[in-house]
Amino acid sequence: MKRAVFVAWMMTGFLLPGQTATKPGNAENGKLLFTKHGCYQCHGYLGQGGGAGAKLAPRPLPLAGLMAYVRKPSGVMPPVTAKVVSDQDLADIHAFLSSIPPAPDPKTIPMLNQ
Ligand code: HEC
Repeated sequence: MKRAVFVAWMMTGFLLPGQTATKPGNAENGKLLFTKHGCYQCHGYLGQGGGAGAKLAPRPLPLAGLMAYVRKPSGVMPPVTAKVVSDQDLADIHAFLSSIPPAPDPKTIPMLNQ
């Protein structure tokens, strides 16, 4: 009996915890979802932090880490279930956060170096 369960699990394609069967994220859609799902309220429109939430961009956590955190936060952030925000939505949000460029180095801005 146990064996049958194991075989069934193998046939699902070896999904380990933290791995997901999502398509590559869509940054455009992720930007909309970041607002729609209220992430911006604590993390800022560009994930820049500064409000109640942590800085998420530029250079967000890897997708698996972001998903793990959002599902089961270890701090004050309210958990976000898959019913509210799907894995695919999180992949899109991750693509959006990854697409945000870092702020320029002040040393490269002539006005600040006169
Ligand atoms: C009510 C405020 C609030 C909302 C809404 C919120 N967060 Fe957070 N989030 C936080 C806070 C505060 C932290 C810092 C750690 C902690 O205390 O949980 C955090 C941490 C995180 C982290 C971990 C960052 C790191 O580098 O460790 C991720 C990823 C994250 N949030 C993603 C999201 C996403 C995606 C959404 C929208 C679905 C969201 N958050 C909505 C408050 C919020």
